[in-house]
Amino acid sequence: MKDASPQTIHLKDYTPFGFEAESVELTFRLAPTATRVLSKIRFLPKEGGDGRFFLHGEDLTLISARIDGAPVTPRLVEGGLEAQVPAEPFIWEAEVEISPATNTALEGLYMSPLAREGEAPGPGAMYCTQCEAEGFRKITFYPDRPDVMSVFTVRIEGDAPVMLSNGNPVERGDGFAVWHDPWRKPAYLFALVAGDLRAHPGSFTTMSGKEVALNIWVRPGPDEDKCAFGMEALKRSMTWDEEVYGREYDLDVFNIVAVDDFNMGAMENKGLNVFNSSCVLASPETSTDMNFERIEAIIAHEYFHNWTGNRITCRDWFQLCLKEGLTVFRDAQFTADMRSAPVKRISDVIALRARQFREDNGPLAHPVRPESFVEINNFYTATVYEKGAELIGMLKTLVGDAAYAKALDLYFERHDGDAATIEDWLKVFEDVTGRDLAQFKRWYAQAGTPRLSVTEDFKDGTYTLHFKQETPPTPGQPHKAPFVIPIAVGLLNPNGDEVVPTRVLEMTQAEQSFSFDGLPSKPVPSILRDFSAPVILERASDNTERAFLLAHDTDPFNKWEAGRALAKDVLCRMVSEGATPDGAYLDAALAVLRDDGLDPAFRALALRLPSEDDIAQTLFGAGITPDPVEIHTARETLSQALAQHAADTLPRIYAAMTVEGPYRPEAEDAGKRDLQGTVLGLLSRIDGGAQAAAQYDAAGNMTQQLAALSCLLMIDKGEPELARFYEQWKDDRLVIDKWFGMQALQAPPARAAAVTDALTRHPDFDFRNPNRFRATLGSFAANAAGFHAADGAGYRLLADWLIRLDPLNPQTTARMTTSFETWKRYDADRQALIEGELRRILNTDGLSRDTTEMVSRILG
Ligand code: ARG
Ligand code: ZN
Repeated sequence: MKDASPQTIHLKDYTPFGFEAESVELTFRLAPTATRVLSKIRFLPKEGGDGRFFLHGEDLTLISARIDGAPVTPRLVEGGLEAQVPAEPFIWEAEVEISPATNTALEGLYMSPLAREGEAPGPGAMYCTQCEAEGFRKITFYPDRPDVMSVFTVRIEGDAPVMLSNGNPVERGDGFAVWHDPWRKPAYLFALVAGDLRAHPGSFTTMSGKEVALNIWVRPGPDEDKCAFGMEALKRSMTWDEEVYGREYDLDVFNIVAVDDFNMGAMENKGLNVFNSSCVLASPETSTDMNFERIEAIIAHEYFHNWTGNRITCRDWFQLCLKEGLTVFRDAQFTADMRSAPVKRISDVIALRARQFREDNGPLAHPVRPESFVEINNFYTATVYEKGAELIGMLKTLVGDAAYAKALDLYFERHDGDAATIEDWLKVFEDVTGRDLAQFKRWYAQAGTPRLSVTEDFKDGTYTLHFKQETPPTPGQPHKAPFVIPIAVGLLNPNGDEVVPTRVLEMTQAEQSFSFDGLPSKPVPSILRDFSAPVILERASDNTERAFLLAHDTDPFNKWEAGRALAKDVLCRMVSEGATPDGAYLDAALAVLRDDGLDPAFRALALRLPSEDDIAQTLFGAGITPDPVEIHTARETLSQALAQHAADTLPRIYAAMTVEGPYRPEAEDAGKRDLQGTVLGLLSRIDGGAQAAAQYDAAGNMTQQLAALSCLLMIDKGEPELARFYEQWKDDRLVIDKWFGMQALQAPPARAAAVTDALTRHPDFDFRNPNRFRATLGSFAANAAGFHAADGAGYRLLADWLIRLDPLNPQTTARMTTSFETWKRYDADRQALIEGELRRILNTDGLSRDTTEMVSRILG
């Protein structure tokens, strides 16, 4: 049962649990609709505890309970149970029954693939778990909070050929398996997997010479051939964490399991990572370069959690950024090392602006460490993850690399085995550097994206930058105190040489000036190099200066940023003033395209126009009501103009970016294919899709096949190719997700809702599968002009599906309500339409706590 009146949980109310859980023994008797879970836990009352013994539990049927062997009848209360317990250490035992086969919420123990309604799960179905954040309470009664850590022994009984849990295998017999995890852990890191699975094996020797058996587990069949890349990525991650952070793996085995039904990307359960199959399975024929890069990053991310998350976990869920921000930061460092650091940084900033700035500037804005929540699953956000990672990056910039390394060593030494807080985290930096980080801590507490405006003057060889910071109000936070902002700045001569190399200015006041002496002439500033802080930089600049920086800046990020600012300015003027495509932009873009001295991946990034959503956000920030259809038209017009302007160059670059030899997912080849795909997009606008059709026919890998198909859809062609694509890939659900996704994303605005509606009627559309749901409805919502069609058909379509999914899967439903988070940007008619849909969702009988919280916050 859902709570009648959802409760708000506050950080300030934190109190420790009154008992220690010394050891946990679990026995699972697996059966699809009647799994029995037996628990035996030794609890020790803690000094100063209030003696209140409350265990969380949800959707559990209690069969029996005992304390020290004697049957007891606990009091079932809202969200769990209470019992009278001795003042001395005691053994709690319980037996509960749960039904994994009917668990469509995909939290706790469930089965995948999901059975058809009213039917038994198929023979290939596997048992698996997702416990973060609060799913363990759907498995048995337990103090389901991250500061309760214990040593788990798990016995699994059933007829599955493979039965896995955390830690090391202890015993395997006919119909049972026993696992023991020697490391104390919170329940959210518990995992169990059972089914007919095949291993892709590997091994790793750690820096102290310990052998670790590695496995990627998949269902028998074609998936078995898609594990090799993931395995290599895992080994690279293990090596990197040893070399860069001195962190060694700590069990005899490391298992990864691929699951088709999963609410998120992956989960770092101790020794048994569970992955959305889309985030681990890869082959050249079925995965794009972007898929490969993402898989490598997610494998690294989950592996890195073993230290930042598992060995040191969070005291409570308000501290989520402690593990997520740091682990995102670490996986970004890893990707930067494996591939191109500038390309990674630019891509991350594009994503940060698209998802986190969008969140931070709307009704869902919240601090990196929130102070209250109703449903914690709603706080696995871009703010906690990506802005959380930016804070680590700023801290590193402020203290320097050497102090960062020292602080991390101290963090691992001091807090290994702890459930820690942001205060603990900042304290190690204070102890190592002697700095006071009180002001820095505001980054964790104050929501919103600071606006950093800058003016300049030059007199007698002294150049001065005057900065002013201002952070707009966010829900519950009308006033903001100034942040400490590391501003990396370099200065260029008018001839393009760098006169002052990168220097980090430390801004602590609301307004502050910084001077540079001894300059022969007024320099051109390159401000916020490498995007040294997650702020919006406002500077009155002209397109001549932007073109200059695009040509000359030595900082790759700001070089790209100059081009981006130029494109944005041009697009915004096209939308708001009806301007025509700007010649300076077209010349600058063509120069980048032709510059063979630049990394192809960088050129591809520099040629990509800002997204329609980005332009809408920018216009709104400038006080202009964005019209999604006009934005779409302007962007198309500018692309078309660039295609014509570059027409003579396109064939040469297309040919030059051809990669010889067998497909390799490495950055170098991927970068060439990326630029080739970008060029193909431009070519398609002038050759009617001839080259794209040829590339489609010849493609030997998914990157080129999909790029070609996407170009054809972009010019409203590709009907036959879409049909052939489906025929070719109908048995591969991950590729078919792409097929659904690209149609919804690329449908012409006027038809997008109808196309998407038709897709939801396709026999392969199973809305209960989160990947398929997101591929279809999520891609549709990302088709800005289509989703925001003036008649409101898009809003209605999405709302209909959210209402339908909510009773089955609240978490994915709640997540997807964020498609509406920008509603206040738009005109009164669109606002009224969206508000109507939001109220319709909110008024749905029995709406989940998850979705209720999200929709209420969006409505504000
Ligand atoms: N800890 C996982 C990760 O970042 C994600 C878990 C998401 N859980 C959730 N309830 N949304 O790797
Ligand atoms: Zn994570």
